[in-house]
Amino acid sequence: MTDEIDQKRRCFLRLATTAVGGVGLAAASVPFFQYWMPSADTEAAAAPMKIDISSMKPREQLTVPWRGMPIWIIYRDQEMLDSLAKLNNILRDPLSEQDQQPEYCKNIHRSIKPQFLIAIGICTHLGCVPTYRPDAGSVSPDWLGGFYCPCHGSRYDLSGRVFQNVPAPLNLKIPRHMYVSDTEIMIGEDQEGVQGAISIS
Ligand code: FES
Repeated sequence: MTDEIDQKRRCFLRLATTAVGGVGLAAASVPFFQYWMPSADTEAAAAPMKIDISSMKPREQLTVPWRGMPIWIIYRDQEMLDSLAKLNNILRDPLSEQDQQPEYCKNIHRSIKPQFLIAIGICTHLGCVPTYRPDAGSVSPDWLGGFYCPCHGSRYDLSGRVFQNVPAPLNLKIPRHMYVSDTEIMIGEDQEGVQGAISIS
């Protein structure tokens, strides 16, 4: 009987301590979160952004800063698009099953329109900015074009899909985006009106 009472008392004390700790944490969090509330400037910098792609030519790369990240637009020609299917068996995630892109970019091009790749140019290993290497053979004899990260040698194809046997674990991220017109893209917002970088951030 004494054992049973001791057991109940221990349980009660544990619950009470947890509850008080939770209240204390919530109270202490208020000034912390107020401190981190974004300023108007920060909010403006995080807002969706339009990019004019009317002057882009095939094989060109355009880089635009957004939310402190480089956003890449790559205008892929037919040869570049044809290279994608040839690489499926040497990529980590050829079908984009990991949550690195919005649902509408879960295809071999990882894009809305096949010719335009829109990606966040940050290596998924430790955050370096990979280089755009569109020419076949420019990184290795069997290279068909893609992105090469000089920091530790990670490689991605022209859809930003990561190769096997490199340090980077995941494909490059694709931000939410949509076409405002044939020559203008909105980054950070999509057709459904959802805002944000991608679904997981
Ligand atoms: S940061 Fe790109 S390979 Fe390490």
